[in-house]
Amino acid sequence: MTTHPVAAPEPIAGAAGLFTLDPALAHLNHGSYGAVPIEVQQEQDRLRADQEADPDGFLRAAPEWLGQARATVARWLGADEQGLALLSNVTEAVAVVLDSIPFRPGEEILVLDHGYGVVNRAAERRAAECGARVRTVVLPLTGGDPAEVVLAAVGPRTRLAVLDRVTSPTAREIATAPLLRALAERGVLTAVDAAHGPGMLDADLDVGRPDFWFGNLHKWAFAPRPTAVLVVRPEWRERIRPLTYSWEHGRGFPLNVEWRGTADYTGWLAAPGALALLDRLGLARVRDHNARLAAYGQQVLGEVAGLAALPASPGVAMRALRLPPQVAETEEQALALMTAVHERLGARVAVRPWTGGGVLRISAQVYNRAEEYQALAAGLDRLLSRPPATSRSA
Ligand SMILES: Cc1ncc(COP(=O)(O)O)c(C=O)c1O
Repeated sequence: MTTHPVAAPEPIAGAAGLFTLDPALAHLNHGSYGAVPIEVQQEQDRLRADQEADPDGFLRAAPEWLGQARATVARWLGADEQGLALLSNVTEAVAVVLDSIPFRPGEEILVLDHGYGVVNRAAERRAAECGARVRTVVLPLTGGDPAEVVLAAVGPRTRLAVLDRVTSPTAREIATAPLLRALAERGVLTAVDAAHGPGMLDADLDVGRPDFWFGNLHKWAFAPRPTAVLVVRPEWRERIRPLTYSWEHGRGFPLNVEWRGTADYTGWLAAPGALALLDRLGLARVRDHNARLAAYGQQVLGEVAGLAALPASPGVAMRALRLPPQVAETEEQALALMTAVHERLGARVAVRPWTGGGVLRISAQVYNRAEEYQALAAGLDRLLSRPPATSRSA
């Protein structure tokens, strides 16, 4: 039997039973969409029932309740309550931020090639509107210090850098406090895409002082989908331009961003219950468990012929591995591999196309077990010796 230097953590007693996940599948992709614990689902169901008992009363009271939910979320993240808005997701948050910055012709927005596709596309769209430019910083997959590469890309016209707290395809921490400070010293605005921040890592809002910080609560903080936050520094709050014009427009940030007329706010109102559950389980214990299990999973998968572990950030509950050449270099091949892993190995993983061999990402959450990664490794060993056919490669 192979011995592993990184031991799998002890499971957290009772944690797996908190979810309604299909036991026939290994859910090794918490990072993409999260999973909502049963008690949080029930809280949202209760709120929906209250709403249907008296829609008029519920929606009239909702702005005040949102204020209470916002205050709880802000306290939990260590954010200033006046500077935090609830919104749907990072996709929305980045659009709000980009729309609020009056870029001048010729100015540059820095984005990362490891950045999330939609975030980078939003930057392209906004830049085109303003006559600005997007500069994509190419980070090495292995080796090199991402902070140095980002700083080397800063030029005299760089207005904004959009940096991931943790990158989606490669699970790397980029927007660290020293990098944010160095950018601020160079007069560059910073927007942190912390889609994978809340629940997994500290918000670091005081340490790095980014101008804009947005993160999902529906990934690692157990909130119902879609729930996210946008945190804005004081000097930008009055300049924030909500995507929708609503009755609360005149109330200014944050309610002008939160309120979008008649809508279902029950997920946001249930978010404080999700945070309370994480606290009850023990946030530090959950983080430690998840990060160690992800490291264990990467180690086991790294033994599969053709898979190579990519650099990891210790506290992150996701890990990435490079696939062999030609396995997932195109979107189509990456999708084919994810489908094959699901249908033939009974597991959910994330695969992103990458030139020279795609990138496979695993996640770890309290409901996962060491055996799931072992089974995935055994299955991938078989699968990669006969890669799934795609119409292009067939
Ligand atoms: C780094 C990163 N940014 C943005 C997003 C988009 O999140 P959402 O679909 O919730 O807007 C994701 C989703 O996985 C992500 O990983």
